[in-house]
Amino acid sequence: MSTKKMLVLFGLLIATAVLVAACAGPQGEPGPAGPPGPQGPQDEPGPALTVQDITCTECHNDTALITSKKASWETSLHGSGTAFLEEGGRNDCAFCHSGAAFSAAVAAGQNFSQVEAGDANPTHQDCRTCHQIHTTYTSADWALETDAPVTMVTSGVTFDGGSGNLCANCHQARRYMANFAAKDASGNPIADKYTPTIRFNTHYSVQADVLLGAGDFGVEGKPGSHYSMVENTCVGCHMGESAAHGFEPQLAKCQECHADVEDFNVNGYLTEFEENYKALEAALLAKGLIAANPDGTYSTVTKNADGTPVVLDPGPAQALFFYNLVHEDGSEGIHNPNYFKALMENALAALAE
Ligand code: HEC
Ligand code: HEC
Ligand code: HEC
Ligand code: HEC
Ligand code: HEC
Ligand code: HEC
Repeated sequence: MSTKKMLVLFGLLIATAVLVAACAGPQGEPGPAGPPGPQGPQDEPGPALTVQDITCTECHNDTALITSKKASWETSLHGSGTAFLEEGGRNDCAFCHSGAAFSAAVAAGQNFSQVEAGDANPTHQDCRTCHQIHTTYTSADWALETDAPVTMVTSGVTFDGGSGNLCANCHQARRYMANFAAKDASGNPIADKYTPTIRFNTHYSVQADVLLGAGDFGVEGKPGSHYSMVENTCVGCHMGESAAHGFEPQLAKCQECHADVEDFNVNGYLTEFEENYKALEAALLAKGLIAANPDGTYSTVTKNADGTPVVLDPGPAQALFFYNLVHEDGSEGIHNPNYFKALMENALAALAE
């Protein structure tokens, strides 16, 4: 518990003690055994404490205020995912993968790369992670844990997207292509050569970078309309007006700008993207940059036939990295359609050579 929370709790205990004292009724019969002590000054009995006086009921009451949000939160990966169990205990994962570690790090002004210890008792990304639950013990505690602009760790760019800033703290890339520079015999990076590993990707948490058009993936990106025009960015699309806690994008939100659309396939964008993605996959397979697994999925090829590590030129490396980026981002580029169109063109062109 933070010192601030301890103080508030302590204050609350004193307040309760005072209330209880004020509520004391008339003095009872003195006990038979002991000598009677000196009588203290007696107050008028205070008014009886009613349920309205307890601010807890601003939230804990017979409405579905908490339970309705909890029900949908439980269906989301924040509420049902189990990655926190395995990753929350590691210092380089705890910020994003343990809700309580996130709150503590935000209070300490740290980003995900500055956390020094794992969380021995990791938690889901739960109500306390995103809201200031049990700080003032009033409904003011629905305030978000943070909505300050985020200086992104890998790109250095600032994400300033209203309450979506909360999300960007965690949903940002952990690494770019530069982290995979090939190395010479003495371990120094070789310019413009890349060595893929089985995790030749940004990590799943790259959505904020994509909205901004950040990254070293092959084309100079720029912030898309979905960053600059959608109020509260992530929260606007993924929670909508009703603050839906399943975190699924809300079609009603899309319809505010894309009148009459019935799904996310605005102007046939997804149809075209998926066709290109299949072509990209086929080209990567043909060039031996990915290989099919028995279960039908594909993995990045990291070793040559002779066992030496694969070393790639920028073009093929960008194509492969982008292929993985599509998977990590999870929106088929809806987060920044123009950026993903340009990256797709760049990737296909690199493999056509
Ligand atoms: C801003 C709304 C809010 C206020 C005000 C509030 N709580 Fe809570 N409380 C919550 C939420 C949200 C949870 C977590 C609910 C869950 O996970 O099911 C919670 C959980 C609890 C729990 C369950 C155990 C735990 O810690 O998770 C207790 C007990 C509790 N609150 C007591 C209180 C008391 C006593 C007060 C007043 C002094 C109070 N709360 C004020 C929102 C609030
Ligand atoms: C404390 C870090 C953190 C914050 C803050 C956070 N997330 Fe997440 N989010 C995660 C993690 C970690 C997962 C994956 C959980 C798992 O698999 O166990 C996730 C999962 C998700 C998923 C599900 C992805 C899928 O593959 O189905 C969505 C959507 C999502 N988050 C959106 C948001 C939005 C919108 C916000 C802001 C309102 C937000 N997140 C805030 C860490 C965070
Ligand atoms: C900057 C925040 C961040 C950091 C740091 C981070 N992760 Fe994640 N991780 C996420 C988010 C967000 C997701 C889920 C995104 C999604 O599903 O689209 C995720 C997903 C995962 C998943 C997939 C979970 C699933 O349910 O499919 C694994 C495994 C994982 N992370 C492992 C790790 C490990 C191991 C570390 C530390 C070495 C780590 N992560 C550090 C944000 C982070
Ligand atoms: C990943 C982050 C995240 C998690 C986890 C989360 N919330 Fe929220 N919640 C939000 C955001 C963002 C809003 C939008 C309101 C805002 O911007 O202040 C919100 C709004 C709300 C509101 C409306 C608040 C108001 O001011 O009217 C309630 C009630 C609420 N959440 C309850 C909960 C409860 C209960 C839980 C746990 C079961 C929970 N939330 C978990 C991010 C989160
Ligand atoms: C223009 C609306 C929009 C904005 C803004 C937006 N998203 Fe998305 N997001 C989507 C759509 C649409 C999908 C694809 C969902 C699907 O296919 O089911 C998606 C997919 C995702 C996924 C993958 C979900 C999955 O099931 O794999 C995550 C995680 C995510 N978004 C997080 C975020 C975060 C974090 C932000 C802010 C940094 C954000 N999004 C901003 C619309 C948006
Ligand atoms: C605040 C307005 C706004 C909202 C809300 C919005 N969009 Fe958009 N969207 C735009 C604008 C403007 C463009 C065109 C410019 C651009 O791509 O940057 C666009 C472009 C697109 C494209 C590319 C279309 C093409 O012709 O290439 C897709 C796909 C898309 N949006 C999907 C969505 C989805 C899905 C949602 C809801 C989850 C959504 N948008 C919400 C404003 C919005």
